[in-house]
Amino acid sequence: MSKKEFADNEDVQVDHMRSYYAFQAKIYDLTRWTFLYGRKTILQKLPFDKDASIDILEVGCGTGVNMVELAKIYPNARITGLDVSGDMLTQASKNLKSYEDRITLVEKPYGGSDEYNGKFDLILFSYSLTMINPQYVDLIHQSKKDIKEGGYVAVVDFHKANFGFYREFMKGNHVKLEGQVLPVLLENFEPVLCKIRTGLVGVWNYLMFVGK
Ligand SMILES: C[S@@+](CC[C@H](N)C(=O)[O-])C[C@H]1O[C@@H](n2cnc3c(N)ncnc32)[C@H](O)[C@@H]1O
Repeated sequence: MSKKEFADNEDVQVDHMRSYYAFQAKIYDLTRWTFLYGRKTILQKLPFDKDASIDILEVGCGTGVNMVELAKIYPNARITGLDVSGDMLTQASKNLKSYEDRITLVEKPYGGSDEYNGKFDLILFSYSLTMINPQYVDLIHQSKKDIKEGGYVAVVDFHKANFGFYREFMKGNHVKLEGQVLPVLLENFEPVLCKIRTGLVGVWNYLMFVGK
């Protein structure tokens, strides 16, 4: 398979991620604020009382930046961060030191099991679904099973590239920018927030979605 093809099954996708983040984990927190837009904003728009005692899962939690924010916003929340990259989770465990009594890290791919069924008030996917090809559809279905009655899914991610060069560039970084995630979310959840915003000078659009 050429470097510019997406994985065609989960095992290959997970291998791609582990290799890619072996280096990227070291520079992730220094670089990603420049283009992963909307992460802080969506966390401020979640429909829970600030003192709520809630269970949260972040799928593809990476270095834990969102989980630190969530732990600050929701001081009574219990948070699980799941990721396939041990290198990203090593960085996360450093970032989360002050919250380690409320945050659990799990190293494995999401999906394919009943263990989390009905467990979470919120499942967050932040810039993960566009990297999880081909199985992002299965992961959205899995999240529907794992969210408690009355709970929510929140997604912040790239939506679409507006230029071919950027679509190709991001493909080389394992990110699929073809607007493929939103239709699947709309088939599975009723939106309480759904916004498509312009990324860097219109080169791409990004999505913020909260659904029931
Ligand atoms: C772009 S990073 C996003 C990290 C974090 N959510 C953020 O907003 O900064 C994507 C993360 O998804 C993880 N990931 C990729 N495929 C995964 C899978 N199948 N299951 C769980 N995590 C996965 C990667 O290892 C990586 O840490």
